[in-house]
Amino acid sequence: MSLPPEAIDTVVVEVLRSAKYASICAETVRGVASLETRSTRSIKEAVKRVKRKLHQIGGAYQAAPTPYDAWLAELRAAPDRETLLPLCRRMMSAHASSQERLPYLDAFYAHVFGDIGPVTSVLDLACGLNPLAIPWMGLADDTRYDCIDIYHDQITFLQGWLALLKKPGRATCQDLLLRPPSGQYDVALLLKSVPCLQQIDAEATSRLLGAIPAQKLVVSFPSRSLGGRNVGMVMNYQRAFESLMQQLGLHGEGHIVGDELVYIITTHGEPA
Ligand SMILES: C[S@@+](CC[C@H](N)C(=O)[O-])C[C@H]1O[C@@H](n2cnc3c(N)ncnc32)[C@H](O)[C@@H]1O
Repeated sequence: MSLPPEAIDTVVVEVLRSAKYASICAETVRGVASLETRSTRSIKEAVKRVKRKLHQIGGAYQAAPTPYDAWLAELRAAPDRETLLPLCRRMMSAHASSQERLPYLDAFYAHVFGDIGPVTSVLDLACGLNPLAIPWMGLADDTRYDCIDIYHDQITFLQGWLALLKKPGRATCQDLLLRPPSGQYDVALLLKSVPCLQQIDAEATSRLLGAIPAQKLVVSFPSRSLGGRNVGMVMNYQRAFESLMQQLGLHGEGHIVGDELVYIITTHGEPA
């Protein structure tokens, strides 16, 4: 037995009432709720399941609450690049994904952008706090940088950060599985997020990968779990992702950079 469709509204309201999930875009909460209520008998159980899923795809990576207003004030007050970079590093350490990348940030972006040629636009998908790494990317001042994630407060902060850098670009709160990105970009980044997206909807994740509007698509996978243990993850991700690329008609070779398995895929801008 499952809950009636109208129960979704109650579940969404209940989940958004909790401080930990209040900043997640409602479309994501609704999307997860509509999947979880299918096999749940009570509202209470559905709320619990939705929260668990939202924790797995986002909450587990960041300490809450994050003082975004204070951060922006600190960044604005930085007089020069020398002062700015340690601030960015400190703030990136508040999100597990960007924190893990800190020890090899230079090598990572040298690998990603080193051989790509001039880049006029970047789309950072499921970005987390990765846009704080822009100073390490070696992009031209006028390179457009758009980024997308599901947390309103994080996205407001990132829009302020892009404005501070005087970068053309936009931070958008959007669920990539429900509303895939549009536009046209030289490079799209989808870093360490495929496993998260697949936890919600594996088919929608495959559709997204086949329709990212960029000439180069950079997809990475963690080589360690959040707890820090290497459990043969690289081989598993490699096998599964290379098979998915084959199905989608995408071509790219994987390289280990720091703790990440990184694929740079040439799509020629045409959805696969
Ligand atoms: C493992 S983190 C990766 C963050 C960043 N790409 C990095 O590597 O530093 C996964 C990110 O995906 C975001 N996310 C999860 N589901 C999403 C969805 N359906 N649409 C957009 N972003 C999503 C989470 O909020 C989180 O920031």
